[in-house]
This record gives sequence, structure tokens and C-alpha cells, in this order.
Amino acid sequence: MPKGMFFIWRREAGTILPPDLEIISRSPEQTQELGLRLGELAQPGDVLLMIGNLGAGKTCLTQGIARGLGIAGYASSPSFVLVREYHGRLPLYHIDLYRLEQVAEVADLGIDEYLYGKGLTVVEWADRALNLMPPQHLLIQIVPLSLRRRKLYLEPRGQRYEEMIKSLRLEAPAR
Ligand SMILES: Nc1ncnc2c1ncn2[C@@H]1O[C@H](COP(=O)(O)OP(=O)(O)OP(=O)(O)O)[C@@H](O)[C@H]1O
Ligand SMILES: [Mg+2]
Repeated sequence: MPKGMFFIWRREAGTILPPDLEIISRSPEQTQELGLRLGELAQPGDVLLMIGNLGAGKTCLTQGIARGLGIAGYASSPSFVLVREYHGRLPLYHIDLYRLEQVAEVADLGIDEYLYGKGLTVVEWADRALNLMPPQHLLIQIVPLSLRRRKLYLEPRGQRYEEMIKSLRLEAPAR
């Protein structure tokens, strides 16, 4: 794990680690570094669902993910674009549901092709259409703690994502 990234997990000596992970980021760069690792760990068909208010850092994290996939020229998508596709080691499908008026619109987008496709799908504002998302995913909640501090709460839903968290954890400095 990159230097300076702080992992917090509720570990008591000798207990089994919980599957989820809480990370404190202290700068946009740290958030991007976490994204970079997520991008490197991504496998075809992976789905990352992001929840967090305006300016929480969802796009910032996605920028790092794009770098981790080796995507050159990632442009942070304006919110009115619902789906953007980029090509790196894997395709990145960046879906932003902020402008969504109705959940029915999502069905019209045909997002299943992305969600069940061969790339990595990242969904900003996933809470707007959670019931249309695949049951197996990594849920990422971003909570601003102060101007530059963010709590990133990663909750794996499904074995694949538990493995992803385990990989991240292995790199975490013990503390
Ligand atoms: N630790 C941090 N991690 C991420 N972003 C941070 C952090 N500290 C400050 N920021 C700032 O917060 C903002 C995050 O913006 P970003 O576009 O990523 O948010 P977002 O969650 O995608 O919002 P939106 O819902 O509008 O799409 C940026 O201006 C970034 O520089
Ligand atoms: Mg955004």
C-alpha cells in the first residue's frame, strides 16, 4: 500500500478480521492512490458502487482507478454524462447517476451491458438505483470528515470482493 495511507480496522489480537475496511484519506492524492490500487486489482466484470455527497471524492477515486488500469487521458466526466467508457488494461465504464430523474431511466440506459460486461464498472451515486445494481459488488462509501480528510468505507458484497479487500489489507502497514 502506498506510504501515508492509513488503514483502520477493528482488530483485537487473535480475532478474525472483519471483511470490511475503513480507510482514512488525508488528501486527494491519497484517495487517488487507493483508487490506483483498486484499478490494479480489478478483474473483468468487477463492479464498484460509490456512495457519497457532492464533492465527497467519488470522481477523485475514479481518477486513481483509471490510472491503475493504465488509462491515459482520463477526463473527469461532467455529471450530465451518464456513462463514459475508457480503455486501458481493462475497459472502465464510469457511470454517474447524479442527474438521474427516475430509476426507470437507468433501465433505459442498458447499463446491464456494462455491469455484466468485461470491464470494470464504477458507479457514482449508486444509491440512486441500488436495486438495479448487481448483488455482488464492492460498496464504497465516502464521508468527508474535514476539508481534506475523508473516511472511505469499503464493504465487500460477495466472495470476489472479499478477496479484493484481503489483497488491500495484506499491503496495509500494521498498526
Ligand atoms: N482526501 C480527499 N479525497 C478526495 N477528494 C478530496 C480530498 N480532500 C479534498 N478533496 C477535494 O474534494 C473534491 C472531490 O471532488 P469529486 O469531484 O471527486 O467529488 P464527487 O464525489 O465526485 O462529487 P460529485 O457528486 O459532484 O460528482 C475535490 O475538489 C478534491 O480536491
Ligand atoms: Mg463525481
